[in-house]
Amino acid sequence: MKRDFLSIADLTTAELDEVLALAQRLKRELRSGQRTPLVAGKTLAMIFEKPSLRTRVTFQVGMTQLGGYAVYLTPADIRLGERETVADIARNLERLVDFIMARTMRHESLLELARYARTPVINGLSDLLHPCQVLSDCFTLREHRGALERQRVAFLGDGNNMANSWINAAARFGFSFALACPPGYEPDPGILEAAREQGASVLITHDPAEALDGADVAYTDVWTSMGQEDEAEQRKQLFAPYQLNATTFAHAKKDALLMHCLPAHRGEEVTAELIDGPASIVFDQAENRLHVQKAILVWLNDQLLHDA
Ligand code: CP
Ligand code: NVA
Repeated sequence: MKRDFLSIADLTTAELDEVLALAQRLKRELRSGQRTPLVAGKTLAMIFEKPSLRTRVTFQVGMTQLGGYAVYLTPADIRLGERETVADIARNLERLVDFIMARTMRHESLLELARYARTPVINGLSDLLHPCQVLSDCFTLREHRGALERQRVAFLGDGNNMANSWINAAARFGFSFALACPPGYEPDPGILEAAREQGASVLITHDPAEALDGADVAYTDVWTSMGQEDEAEQRKQLFAPYQLNATTFAHAKKDALLMHCLPAHRGEEVTAELIDGPASIVFDQAENRLHVQKAILVWLNDQLLHDA
């Protein structure tokens, strides 16, 4: 059956565990010099409405390592919904490629691509969610700390796509999650409610110290996400108390890890001292995007084959 990966909530905990186990295997094999051609001859269309370093490179390199090929479509090439409708783009691409990955301004565009394409669609970031990043971060956290259930993840900053995906992950993996954000910048209420109904432990506060109290991980992201550039100056003022620096980080556990999805703005959401310091595992996070996304591609491909 065709499955999509638009949200961490699209997969059960057991399915997500399968993906993470596969990622671990692929990482081990790659490090021992093996290139396993698990999607040999298959093609991925990569639609980007916003810039990217990690997502683009890891999907493209990942497809190559798996024996497939990736086609990069720039914002100017496609102009989603402007040059032609999202539905028509989906109806074309499904005949030409095996997978679609899209980074969109509007989450609705991803839903539409998935609705009209018979090929699996992967969310490479939308205004609502960034599931590839957070699933990969869960993998990284497991590598460093083992079982996720006992972890407490504190996120300082905006209740944005990253925070929403962390809330979805808390519902699936059972760790506790705390977000400290300025009033008015809370996460999506529907995602929060659904996660809590599924038993997720999620705290939303306006107090950074409360979120960080007892945290195993201090996480942050840019204050101004792609597409919100007009609000940058106002956000810099509002978010200043939520910076991860020596003072705020001291509220977390002594051995807490510092995580960031990158790109980072040193001196804004995080100090250079912290992100370049010993607690930081940000480049492990960046590397693991490759292994986890390869696993997502292989897993989605396997779902198609199961049904054939
Ligand atoms: N973290 C992340 O998704 O990076 P890019 O925006 O560079 O893809
Ligand atoms: N919240 C950020 C994440 C970048 C990877 C953005 O959407 O721009």
